[in-house]
Amino acid sequence: MSHRIEPLNVPKFVALKSAGQKIVMLTAYDYTTAALLDAAGVHGILVGDSLGMVVQGHPNTLPVTMKQMIYHAEMVARAVKRALVVADLPFLSYQLGPKQAIKSAGLILKHTRCQAVKLEQGPEQLEVTQALVGAGIPVMAHFGLRPQSIHQLGGYRVARDRGRLIQEAKAAEQAGAFAILLEYVPAELAREITASVQVPTIGIGAGPHCDGQILVLHDLLGLGRVPRHAKAYANLQQIITDAVSAYFQEVQHGKFPGQEHSFQ
Ligand code: KIV
Repeated sequence: MSHRIEPLNVPKFVALKSAGQKIVMLTAYDYTTAALLDAAGVHGILVGDSLGMVVQGHPNTLPVTMKQMIYHAEMVARAVKRALVVADLPFLSYQLGPKQAIKSAGLILKHTRCQAVKLEQGPEQLEVTQALVGAGIPVMAHFGLRPQSIHQLGGYRVARDRGRLIQEAKAAEQAGAFAILLEYVPAELAREITASVQVPTIGIGAGPHCDGQILVLHDLLGLGRVPRHAKAYANLQQIITDAVSAYFQEVQHGKFPGQEHSFQ
């Protein structure tokens, strides 16, 4: 009997909230890991601009370009058969307004198989979200800590402005956002926001009451320092270090390659 995989799309992703199913998302940046996450059954994969930090080694997400985002998003989406794939709009690809945003998001949808984009939503971006949705481009709106504003914020801090966050989340929903990502928001406030909108909320450092959770893949795998909000489900840093050390020793001592790895 063939086992058909039902692909998720934006409406099916949104419907997970009313079905009472917790939504599971992770970031991915390349074909191999995206295929593994998809096969493991995650609902959504974000090609996050966190790639600037965990893949490129920058101190923040600001250097990521549209060209790089398309490069990574294309690889990820090509690997995915089932999950909803969302790509981040990088810094300065939408801040100039609706026209620039439609062009940037349109290029991502045209050149990759991503189904949606995410943008860091302030009040200034409401008309951007509205214009993107009007152009048929699904938007996930990112609230709370907005890493693209790191220089204005002065650090990665918990966002506590209750009135503003609830009002802005409702406004983003009204503008047509299909989901709301909450980063570094107190758990009780995230619960209130989640109850005040119909669309799913996806939390990162936002407690257990969101409709779903997302983690940066490198944090889940224990690749480097694990931040306070995250949990490492493996210690890949140790596994990789041990494997490379074993290889080093075997080459040094003439144990690798053995006969079985050589051609006669
Ligand atoms: O770029 C990213 O990885 C993000 C996280 C908040 C999930 O936006």
